[in-house]
Amino acid sequence: MTNSNVLVLGGTGRTGGRIVRRLRDRGIQARVASRRGREPFRWEDRATWDVALRGASAAYLCYSPDLAFPGVAEMIGEFAGRARNLGVDRMVLLSGRGEAGARASEKAVQETAAQWTVIRSSWFAQNFSEHFLLGPTLRGRLVLPAGDVREPFIDIDDLAEIASAALTEDGHAGTVYEVTGPRLLSMHDVAAEISAAAGRNIEYVPGTAEEFVADVARDGVRPDDARPLAELFESILDGRNASIATGVESALGRPATDFTDYARRAAASGIWNPRIESRA
Ligand SMILES: NC(=O)c1ccc[n+]([C@@H]2O[C@H](COP(=O)([O-])OP(=O)(O)OC[C@H]3O[C@@H](n4cnc5c(N)ncnc54)[C@H](OP(=O)(O)O)[C@@H]3O)[C@@H](O)[C@H]2O)c1
Repeated sequence: MTNSNVLVLGGTGRTGGRIVRRLRDRGIQARVASRRGREPFRWEDRATWDVALRGASAAYLCYSPDLAFPGVAEMIGEFAGRARNLGVDRMVLLSGRGEAGARASEKAVQETAAQWTVIRSSWFAQNFSEHFLLGPTLRGRLVLPAGDVREPFIDIDDLAEIASAALTEDGHAGTVYEVTGPRLLSMHDVAAEISAAAGRNIEYVPGTAEEFVADVARDGVRPDDARPLAELFESILDGRNASIATGVESALGRPATDFTDYARRAAASGIWNPRIESRA
């Protein structure tokens, strides 16, 4: 089956944006749903849901800020029900490893969609170059409540490739792809990898949740937004996810991208060495 009209929730975001580009490259009509769209989609405003869903045959479900937050599973279940009623046969859900709230959302989609695929992901490598850890990385101090735990960071280009395939090709329905990178890295390892790729010194500073909140406040992240994330990190960065999974190989038939390759690419983009423009 080829889905000709795919709705991409969070299509302006990190994973969604990559999926939209891949689908359009294949000549598939990909519709972006986000608050900034021409016809705005807001999770909080159910009146916007049907407009986004109408005419779609498949949908990428990506909840922001985090699938694991309280109350989200109920909303995802309700959204999946609306989608099914409006003819969306195929749903691909982005989920997180080791998170009880995310597991409840998975169940809601599995019970509702005619064809579902779950992508249950480890921490994104791109958190250091495109998200809340970019500011700390640029300051050269990664303050995180992560102790010495090791995490198999995934390159989200791998994740987007899997989602694009699951949205448009047969053979992925009814599957949970647990996706990770190929290697476990401590935050000290991450700091060393980024330092080597970027050619500047970045250190990891093990901290408390409150120290993390105070640090990202320097980048304009409001404490009320950072605190729930910090609590989530503390819970999942307790070693429960310190194992490699094989979802990338199963879905794509090739190994997952290594953190070193991600770091080289990110460094080559210049993101970690912004030029300070001198004023004439
Ligand atoms: N970061 C990680 O390491 C990690 C690991 C595993 C799983 N995850 C999961 O990844 C998901 C986030 O994916 P991502 O990083 O690709 O997203 P993202 O880059 O943060 O982008 C969020 C997208 O959602 C839209 N959006 C934000 N608030 C919205 C709202 N209230 N209503 C409708 N749209 C909204 C944004 O566009 P507008 O601003 O235009 O609305 C944007 O397109 C979360 O569910 C998280 O649990 C993350």
